[in-house]
Amino acid sequence: MFKSTESQAISILQSDESHEHKLLCIARLLSEQIPHYNWVGFYFMNDQTQILELGPYVGIPTDHIRIPYGKGICGQVAVSGETFVVQDVHAQENYISCSINVQSEVVVPIYSNEKLVAQLDIDSDYKSPFTDEDQRFLEGLCEEIGQVWPD
Ligand code: SME
Repeated sequence: MFKSTESQAISILQSDESHEHKLLCIARLLSEQIPHYNWVGFYFMNDQTQILELGPYVGIPTDHIRIPYGKGICGQVAVSGETFVVQDVHAQENYISCSINVQSEVVVPIYSNEKLVAQLDIDSDYKSPFTDEDQRFLEGLCEEIGQVWPD
């Protein structure tokens, strides 16, 4: 499942589309092909304001267009710079709820030239759906995305 999705994602990244459109296509690809990826989106870092800004996404519209660094799962990743796998969002105190359907979440940092520039955020309607394979796949994908990040 992940192998084929990964090669399709690489084709998207190599295309001549705009950066934003590539990210939207990747969000669409992930949400269509992986049954437990139910909301998929990107947040961009803004170190000046210390606020994450919502980029392209697929799924239920969210009110959380701007998230201060440190707040919620995404805000914590803005500070730690490390992947955060949350198998049960109800067990998290520092969590920002987007929809009552969401049970779990994974947030993966995207680095460009060693600088944290964005995050891939995935919400799932299932409890404990994320395996080590998910994490490896998503971290590999975010590395590929980081390599084509515009300056
Ligand atoms: N749940 C996230 C907020 C973003 S939404 O999932 C789209 C968080 O706690 O950071």
